[in-house]
Amino acid sequence: MPVRPAAARDADFLWDILREAYNWNGEQRFTVEELAADPHAVRYLAGWPRTDDFGVVAETDAGEPIGAAWARRLPEDEPGYGFVATDVPELTLGVLPGHRGRGHGRTLMEALIRAAAEQPEPVTRLSLSVEDGNPAVRLYTSLGFTRAGRNGGSDTMVLDVPGAG
Ligand SMILES: CC(C)(COP(=O)(O)OP(=O)(O)OC[C@H]1O[C@@H](n2cnc3c(N)ncnc32)[C@H](O)[C@@H]1OP(=O)(O)O)[C@@H](O)C(=O)NCCC(=O)NCCS
Repeated sequence: MPVRPAAARDADFLWDILREAYNWNGEQRFTVEELAADPHAVRYLAGWPRTDDFGVVAETDAGEPIGAAWARRLPEDEPGYGFVATDVPELTLGVLPGHRGRGHGRTLMEALIRAAAEQPEPVTRLSLSVEDGNPAVRLYTSLGFTRAGRNGGSDTMVLDVPGAG
Protein backbone atom coordinates (compact mmCIF):
# COMPACT_ATOMS: atom_id res chain seq x y z
CA MET A 1 0.00 0.00 0.00
CA PRO A 2 1.69 3.21 -1.16
CA VAL A 3 2.24 6.14 1.19
CA ARG A 4 3.14 9.51 -0.30
CA PRO A 5 3.64 13.04 1.00
CA ALA A 6 0.41 14.98 1.54
CA ALA A 7 -0.02 17.88 -0.91
CA ALA A 8 -2.28 20.92 -1.35
CA ARG A 9 -4.70 18.85 -3.45
CA ASP A 10 -5.30 16.58 -0.44
CA ALA A 11 -7.02 19.31 1.59
CA ASP A 12 -10.55 17.89 1.15
CA PHE A 13 -9.39 14.40 2.07
CA LEU A 14 -7.58 15.69 5.16
CA TRP A 15 -10.85 17.32 6.28
CA ASP A 16 -12.50 13.89 5.91
CA ILE A 17 -9.77 12.40 8.08
CA LEU A 18 -10.11 15.18 10.66
CA ARG A 19 -13.78 14.19 10.86
CA GLU A 20 -12.77 10.56 11.44
CA ALA A 21 -10.41 11.61 14.22
CA TYR A 22 -13.13 13.68 15.91
CA ASN A 23 -15.63 10.83 15.46
CA TRP A 24 -13.15 8.13 16.54
CA ASN A 25 -15.70 6.25 18.68
CA GLY A 26 -18.01 5.53 15.77
CA GLU A 27 -20.61 8.15 16.66
CA GLN A 28 -21.06 10.74 13.94
CA ARG A 29 -20.58 13.60 16.35
CA PHE A 30 -19.35 16.13 13.77
CA THR A 31 -19.68 16.68 10.03
CA VAL A 32 -16.89 18.30 8.03
CA GLU A 33 -19.07 21.41 7.75
CA GLU A 34 -19.39 21.61 11.52
CA LEU A 35 -15.65 21.17 11.99
CA ALA A 36 -14.91 23.84 9.37
CA ALA A 37 -17.12 26.21 11.35
CA ASP A 38 -15.55 25.27 14.70
CA PRO A 39 -12.89 27.80 15.74
CA HIS A 40 -10.87 25.11 17.48
CA ALA A 41 -11.08 22.38 14.85
CA VAL A 42 -10.09 24.68 11.98
CA ARG A 43 -6.71 25.21 13.60
CA TYR A 44 -5.61 21.78 12.42
CA LEU A 45 -6.25 22.45 8.72
CA ALA A 46 -7.03 26.10 7.90
CA GLY A 47 -4.84 27.22 5.03
CA TRP A 48 -3.41 23.74 4.40
CA PRO A 49 -0.60 23.48 3.57
CA ARG A 50 1.20 26.13 5.57
CA THR A 51 4.96 26.42 5.14
CA ASP A 52 5.80 24.20 8.12
CA ASP A 53 3.02 21.64 7.66
CA PHE A 54 3.91 18.12 6.66
CA GLY A 55 1.92 14.96 6.21
CA VAL A 56 1.49 11.63 4.49
CA VAL A 57 -1.39 9.96 2.64
CA ALA A 58 -1.98 6.22 2.21
CA GLU A 59 -3.59 5.12 -1.03
CA THR A 60 -4.96 1.95 -2.52
CA ASP A 61 -3.07 0.58 -5.49
CA ALA A 62 -5.74 2.31 -7.61
CA GLY A 63 -4.75 5.66 -6.11
CA GLU A 64 -7.76 6.16 -3.81
CA PRO A 65 -6.75 7.84 -0.54
CA ILE A 66 -7.68 5.74 2.50
CA GLY A 67 -5.82 7.36 5.35
CA ALA A 68 -3.60 10.25 6.34
CA ALA A 69 -1.46 11.70 9.08
CA TRP A 70 -0.19 15.25 9.24
CA ALA A 71 1.42 17.62 11.70
CA ARG A 72 1.20 21.35 12.27
CA ARG A 73 2.89 23.82 14.61
CA LEU A 74 0.29 25.87 16.45
CA PRO A 75 0.73 29.13 18.36
CA GLU A 76 0.36 29.27 22.11
CA ASP A 77 -2.68 31.56 21.91
CA GLU A 78 -4.48 29.21 19.46
CA PRO A 79 -3.28 25.78 20.56
CA GLY A 80 -4.50 22.33 19.65
CA TYR A 81 -5.85 19.91 22.26
CA GLY A 82 -2.40 18.28 22.41
CA PHE A 83 -0.40 21.50 22.57
CA VAL A 84 3.02 21.21 24.20
CA ALA A 85 5.08 24.05 22.70
CA THR A 86 5.13 26.12 19.51
CA ASP A 87 8.05 24.09 18.11
CA VAL A 88 6.32 20.75 18.77
CA PRO A 89 3.93 20.02 15.90
CA GLU A 90 0.69 18.28 16.83
CA LEU A 91 -0.36 15.41 14.63
CA THR A 92 -3.70 14.14 13.41
CA LEU A 93 -4.20 10.56 12.22
CA GLY A 94 -7.06 8.64 10.67
CA VAL A 95 -7.89 5.76 8.36
CA LEU A 96 -11.26 5.45 6.62
CA PRO A 97 -13.54 2.98 8.44
CA GLY A 98 -13.52 0.26 5.80
CA HIS A 99 -9.72 0.07 5.81
CA ARG A 100 -8.85 -0.14 9.49
CA GLY A 101 -7.07 -2.96 11.27
CA ARG A 102 -4.75 -3.78 8.37
CA GLY A 103 -1.62 -1.90 9.39
CA HIS A 104 -2.26 1.35 7.52
CA GLY A 105 -2.39 3.46 10.67
CA ARG A 106 0.96 2.15 11.84
CA THR A 107 2.50 2.62 8.38
CA LEU A 108 1.22 6.21 8.26
CA MET A 109 2.61 6.99 11.70
CA GLU A 110 6.02 5.54 10.85
CA ALA A 111 6.11 7.58 7.63
CA LEU A 112 5.08 10.76 9.45
CA ILE A 113 7.77 10.25 12.10
CA ARG A 114 10.40 9.77 9.36
CA ALA A 115 9.12 12.91 7.62
CA ALA A 116 9.45 14.84 10.90
CA ALA A 117 13.14 14.00 11.10
CA GLU A 118 13.62 15.04 7.47
CA GLN A 119 12.05 18.50 7.71
CA PRO A 120 14.29 21.44 6.66
CA GLU A 121 14.15 22.50 10.28
CA PRO A 122 14.11 19.05 11.89
CA VAL A 123 11.25 18.33 14.24
CA THR A 124 12.67 16.88 17.44
CA ARG A 125 9.30 16.22 19.14
CA LEU A 126 5.76 15.45 17.99
CA SER A 127 2.63 15.69 20.12
CA LEU A 128 -0.91 14.39 19.91
CA SER A 129 -4.12 14.27 21.90
CA VAL A 130 -5.97 11.01 22.44
CA GLU A 131 -9.32 10.86 24.16
CA ASP A 132 -9.88 8.42 27.01
CA GLY A 133 -11.03 5.06 25.67
CA ASN A 134 -9.55 5.42 22.17
CA PRO A 135 -7.63 2.20 21.43
CA ALA A 136 -5.30 4.25 19.21
CA VAL A 137 -3.34 4.88 22.42
CA ARG A 138 -1.87 1.38 22.04
CA LEU A 139 -0.48 2.29 18.63
CA TYR A 140 1.03 5.50 19.97
CA THR A 141 2.59 3.80 22.97
CA SER A 142 4.10 1.08 20.80
CA LEU A 143 5.71 3.79 18.65
CA GLY A 144 7.33 5.38 21.70
CA PHE A 145 4.89 8.17 22.57
CA THR A 146 4.59 8.83 26.29
CA ARG A 147 2.02 10.69 28.35
CA ALA A 148 2.97 14.32 28.84
CA GLY A 149 -0.22 15.77 30.32
CA ARG A 150 -3.99 15.94 30.45
CA ASN A 151 -6.47 18.18 28.67
CA GLY A 152 -10.08 17.56 29.63
CA GLY A 153 -10.81 13.88 28.99
CA SER A 154 -7.73 13.35 26.84
CA ASP A 155 -4.09 12.50 27.27
CA THR A 156 -1.45 14.60 25.58
CA MET A 157 1.34 12.34 24.33
CA VAL A 158 4.81 13.25 23.08
CA LEU A 159 7.45 11.45 21.04
CA ASP A 160 11.14 12.29 20.86
CA VAL A 161 11.60 11.86 17.12
CA PRO A 162 14.31 9.28 16.40
CA GLY A 163 17.13 10.65 14.25
CA ALA A 164 16.21 14.31 14.77
CA GLY A 165 18.19 16.82 16.76
C1 LIG B 1 -6.42 4.85 14.98
C2 LIG B 1 -6.39 4.39 13.53
C3 LIG B 1 -5.80 5.47 12.66
C4 LIG B 1 -5.52 3.15 13.45
O1 LIG B 1 -5.43 2.79 12.08
P1 LIG B 1 -5.48 1.27 11.65
O2 LIG B 1 -5.09 1.19 10.22
O3 LIG B 1 -6.78 0.68 12.05
O4 LIG B 1 -4.32 0.70 12.60
P2 LIG B 1 -3.36 -0.53 12.39
O5 LIG B 1 -4.06 -1.63 11.65
O6 LIG B 1 -2.08 -0.02 11.82
O7 LIG B 1 -3.13 -0.97 13.89
C5 LIG B 1 -2.15 -0.34 14.67
C6 LIG B 1 -2.44 -0.53 16.14
O8 LIG B 1 -3.55 0.26 16.50
C7 LIG B 1 -4.17 -0.28 17.67
N1 LIG B 1 -5.58 -0.04 17.44
C8 LIG B 1 -6.07 1.09 16.89
N2 LIG B 1 -7.41 1.07 16.83
C9 LIG B 1 -7.80 -0.10 17.35
C10 LIG B 1 -9.06 -0.69 17.58
N3 LIG B 1 -10.21 -0.10 17.24
N4 LIG B 1 -9.10 -1.87 18.16
C11 LIG B 1 -7.96 -2.49 18.50
N5 LIG B 1 -6.73 -1.99 18.29
C12 LIG B 1 -6.63 -0.79 17.74
C13 LIG B 1 -3.70 -1.69 17.76
O9 LIG B 1 -2.94 -1.74 18.96
C14 LIG B 1 -2.79 -1.93 16.57
O10 LIG B 1 -1.66 -2.58 17.02
P3 LIG B 1 -0.94 -3.73 16.18
O11 LIG B 1 -0.27 -3.05 15.02
O12 LIG B 1 0.00 -4.33 17.14
O13 LIG B 1 -2.05 -4.68 15.75
C15 LIG B 1 -7.81 4.02 13.01
O14 LIG B 1 -8.37 3.04 13.85
C16 LIG B 1 -8.76 5.23 12.96
O15 LIG B 1 -8.78 5.97 11.97
N6 LIG B 1 -9.53 5.43 14.03
C17 LIG B 1 -10.48 6.54 14.09
C18 LIG B 1 -9.77 7.88 14.13
C19 LIG B 1 -8.84 7.98 15.32
O16 LIG B 1 -9.06 7.44 16.39
N7 LIG B 1 -7.75 8.71 15.09
C20 LIG B 1 -6.78 8.98 16.14
C21 LIG B 1 -7.25 10.07 17.02
S1 LIG B 1 -6.12 10.31 18.39
